[in-house]
Amino acid sequence: MGDAEIIIPRHVAVVMDGNGRWAEERGLDRTEGHREGRYAARRFVRAADDRGVECVSLYAFSTENWARPETEVEALMTLIEGALLAELEELCQHDVRLVWSGGREGLPGALRRALNSTIEATAGNAGMVLNLCVNYGGQAEIAEAAKQIAQKVRAGELDADEVAPETISAHLYVPELPPVDLLIRPGGDLRVSNFLLWQIAYAEFYVMEDFWPDFQAEHLDAAIADYSRRRRRFGGLPLEE
Ligand code: IPE
Ligand code: IPE
Ligand code: MG
Repeated sequence: MGDAEIIIPRHVAVVMDGNGRWAEERGLDRTEGHREGRYAARRFVRAADDRGVECVSLYAFSTENWARPETEVEALMTLIEGALLAELEELCQHDVRLVWSGGREGLPGALRRALNSTIEATAGNAGMVLNLCVNYGGQAEIAEAAKQIAQKVRAGELDADEVAPETISAHLYVPELPPVDLLIRPGGDLRVSNFLLWQIAYAEFYVMEDFWPDFQAEHLDAAIADYSRRRRRFGGLPLEE
């Protein structure tokens, strides 16, 4: 194998972690870390688009993050809303289509409206897909799919014996997304924190020590270079080279 061969993953997912620690290291309020994290997200989306990635998923707020102090939760909601409104033009310039994975209930109306209006305004864009995960939990997503499937069985629209993995996939928040190829986690923690549990079945993990606000295009290149050296077997045997 040529050591310079680069394989671009179709779907890259990121746990945007380490904002709080980034801020605390500087004696700043955690919220300042979230504010910086927003610019890291912009750098990441640009870099992924430049490199020809088809789809990116960004973990912005988890179902577990509601356990944080109210002031931090509110700051995050306002930041995400503001970022959506501010980035719309750039998303359209780059032909990026926004989709949203996450529970529709419980979010402030202003954020829900910003999400829905950005989804609508970018619906015709045919370039990269940006899957923003807000009020997202992998277990909640699968439970929601199970609920919808059960309702269809009860209504006689679906035969219970025919429920298969594809049936679950078809009932996720955004069913058309390809499986995750590469999962990046800044901040050094070796866990998935309830992110895209169904979609990461065969994802390659890349954990980096730097915190999310320090994320640069070079980090993505390093992750892709590492990913390109992995041998994905999907349970089979390695292909002859
Ligand atoms: C990730 O950064 C952002 C969200 C969870 C919304 P954190 O706020 O978790 O930062 P750390 O992990 O405490 O450093
Ligand atoms: C995961 O980070 C959630 C987001 C980045 C939105 P957390 O900081 O919430 O994860 P844990 O608590 O360390 O597992
Ligand atoms: Mg964290």
